[in-house]
Amino acid sequence: MRKFISIVIITFLMLPIALKAQGNNHFFPEKDLVTTGIYYYPEHWNEAQWERDIKKMSEMGFEFVHLAEFAWFKIEPLEGRFDFNWLDRVVGLCAKYHLKVLLCTPSATTPTWMRINYPEIFVMDGHYIRAENGTRGLESMVNPKFRGYVKRIVTEMAKRYGQNKNVMGWQIDNEPGAVPDYSPSSQEAFRAWLKNKYQTIDALNTAWGAAFWSQWFNSFDQVIIPNTSLVGWWGNNPHALLDFKRYSADAQAAFLDFQAGILRNSISKGQFVTTNYTAVCTGSDPRRTKKLDFAAYTAYPNGGTDNIGESGFRLGNSDVILFASEYYKSVGGVSGVMEIQPGPVNWGSYNPLLLPGTVRLWLYHSFAAGGKIACSYRFRQILYGAEQYHAGVIQTDGVTPSQGGKDYMQFMKEVTELRKQYKPETKMPAKLAARSTAILWNVENYWSIDRQKQTGQWNTWDYPVKFLKTAKSLGAPVDVIQETADLSKYKFVIVPAYEMVDSALVKKWNDYVIEGGHLIITCRTGTKDRQGHFWEGETAAPILKLIGAHINGTDMLSSYGKGDLLLNANHYPWHSWADLLMPDNATEVLATYNNQFYKGKAAVVKHQIGKGTVTYIGVDNDDSKLEKDLLRQIYTDAGATTEDYPPGVLVYWRDGFYTALNYSSENYTVSLPDNAKVLIGERILKPAGVLVWTE
Ligand code: GAL
Repeated sequence: MRKFISIVIITFLMLPIALKAQGNNHFFPEKDLVTTGIYYYPEHWNEAQWERDIKKMSEMGFEFVHLAEFAWFKIEPLEGRFDFNWLDRVVGLCAKYHLKVLLCTPSATTPTWMRINYPEIFVMDGHYIRAENGTRGLESMVNPKFRGYVKRIVTEMAKRYGQNKNVMGWQIDNEPGAVPDYSPSSQEAFRAWLKNKYQTIDALNTAWGAAFWSQWFNSFDQVIIPNTSLVGWWGNNPHALLDFKRYSADAQAAFLDFQAGILRNSISKGQFVTTNYTAVCTGSDPRRTKKLDFAAYTAYPNGGTDNIGESGFRLGNSDVILFASEYYKSVGGVSGVMEIQPGPVNWGSYNPLLLPGTVRLWLYHSFAAGGKIACSYRFRQILYGAEQYHAGVIQTDGVTPSQGGKDYMQFMKEVTELRKQYKPETKMPAKLAARSTAILWNVENYWSIDRQKQTGQWNTWDYPVKFLKTAKSLGAPVDVIQETADLSKYKFVIVPAYEMVDSALVKKWNDYVIEGGHLIITCRTGTKDRQGHFWEGETAAPILKLIGAHINGTDMLSSYGKGDLLLNANHYPWHSWADLLMPDNATEVLATYNNQFYKGKAAVVKHQIGKGTVTYIGVDNDDSKLEKDLLRQIYTDAGATTEDYPPGVLVYWRDGFYTALNYSSENYTVSLPDNAKVLIGERILKPAGVLVWTE
């Protein structure tokens, strides 16, 4: 047992920071553009209906079936006793109807025998209450016993289906979210993680600022997971909590890699290994994995929130797929949507009918952004259980397509048409390449800033997304990249609220600019070191030379306060964040504060270095118009043309196809060049409308 514990701990500690090589496109033939699939849970239905259901999937146009996701109880009904006969029959039926299979490891839901025999495998919450089975993702990923059971079932599945030509790939677990775990297994793994990171307890004390409020430790044995449930907000130690986030994300990544490693021992090279992260993901960090071929995401754009205009509450939030489709490409170079909402869900604040065509709009969004797979949760709406109100692509009678199902069928039919139009080797048009933009994003900055927002008006998630949205509204192709990416591929690099930096990163930014890049840095960047400490120096000391200015102070306003800014004689409102800038002599002032006691102070500055420029945006404008006008000016000054799409209208280019999508509540007329050939849709884009064309 001790040996097993050390193997678990060693594997975990060896989790490399190194990232997986980019580019796992070879799993998906270019000419197929996108492969469509559907979740099926045969264990929820009478076996007499399996063939009818699977035949129906094939007739509807699906190309693969997603199986076994939560079926541990059925695959291993008794401890150590495996039953694959039923799954063999389902896989066989899929083959009969020319459907590929995407198999899942069922580790997200444990069978009842495991809870009875080994209650210690579950996570504990911040009040040290132990979880139970019956839902998803509550097992302690670092618990050696749980690891042992996972290893056994994954090994059995890989041996059984790893060489099956009809199995295209594997999804590990479900929506890995790095759940905070305060159980004894996790306490032990956390201490091991800290020992590996800090080596000495004094180094940990210094990094955590443990002298503050008598938190000092004499040895690693005294360290426990920082627990805000017990010490309250005031007891929060931001550095300890940041490390707990890092540890939890590492544990999650190690758990996925652990399973991927087991699969790889038996599966063929043609089968891919992936997982389905949530689109808006703030716990786990996909970039920490090293054995996934790529990372897919789950997208539920409509959770009962108001969005753009009158129909917005039916159309959903365009930011969901917008961000996820770019972010997840940073693992393995490709991505796709594993679950797309098929209709009303059961968990929104309210669950309205979607405007007919909305599911198709989302499918096209994922496609337009380069998605290689488009799959949906779930085939049949279930008749019982926690999700009985959740739509499927087939209604409760088991045979009639829902509106989402009809949308899906239309999409799949159209994709077969688009495939005929596909021309290999198409290059991105020059006018788009001239606007190529990257947003630098690291979830660690999210963790750090969100813990200490300083103002309730700061939206930690929306802030970087607004730059992605703004660049898209100007017609730029935008990637969401990480620090290791090659910046020289991009004409413009935006660094929004990138709080924690080190000298190597700042040098990388500087080198990029010297060589002609245009860097846009925003407020809350460079104010802390990697442990989350301030610099013993001026605010944002390491970036001041780069931005050509000093930050004299930061203001934030009450909700009724009025912040007024001036850029080119236009006024813009702000509330949440305002750095007061003092520019160096060679730095140009672009925008100034126009009221408050510091009226006239600089809010946005631009600095030329070598062949490129650095623009520092010290203020968070309420309606993003300032950011849009600034970005347009920066693109134009750098010789790039821009578009002007209204909120909710998104235009993409992929593999030679332009796609325009309308999430707004108004019609939008797409202006097309004379040589445009419309393949799908009409120039007047209705709400939920899609237009695909080539030029
Ligand atoms: C997802 C989850 C699915 C299903 C779905 C319901 O988050 O991965 O298993 O529960 O939500 O909307």
